[in-house]
Amino acid sequence: MSKSSKRILVIHGPNLNLLGRREPEVYGTQTLADIDSSLDAAAKELDIEIDAFQSNHEGELIDRIQEAMGVASGILINPGGFTHTSVALRDALLATGLPIVEVHLSNVYAREDFRQKSFVSAIALGVVSGLGADGYRFGLEALARHVDG
Ligand code: DQA
Repeated sequence: MSKSSKRILVIHGPNLNLLGRREPEVYGTQTLADIDSSLDAAAKELDIEIDAFQSNHEGELIDRIQEAMGVASGILINPGGFTHTSVALRDALLATGLPIVEVHLSNVYAREDFRQKSFVSAIALGVVSGLGADGYRFGLEALARHVDG
C-alpha cells in the first residue's frame, strides 16, 4: 500500500475485455489494457490508487463490489450490458454506500431504446457517456475530486 489514502475500484463489465476488436466504430480502437494504463497514469497524478477488475459474470462483479466495502473510497464502473438489466448489480453498488461514477464509451442515449434505461444512473454521483476512452479519465478525476471533498 502506498501512502495514498484514496482507493478507487474500477469495474469493467461484460464484453469490455474485447475492446479494440469489438465494434470499433462504436467503442473505439483502444483496448482495455490501454484504458487501464491511462487510468494508472491519471491515478499517479491524482495521488490515488486504483484497482481495476473486469468480468463477464454478474456474480463475480457483485463479489468484487462487495469486497470494496470499507476499503475503497469510490467506484468507477462501466457496467456494460448489465447497466440495462441488473437490479442485483445496482443493489451491490448501493450497499457499499460509496460514491459511484458510471461510464460508457458510447452515448447510450443516442442508441437503441433498451440502452436508455440504466439501473445505475439514479444511484450514481454522475454519468459520463459518449466520450470514448477519455470518459474513464474524466470520471476518475470527478470521483477523486468528490472524495477529496
Ligand atoms: C457500454 C454501453 C452498453 O449499452 C453496452 O452493452 C456495452 C458498453 C458502453 O461503454 O458504451 O457493453 O457500456
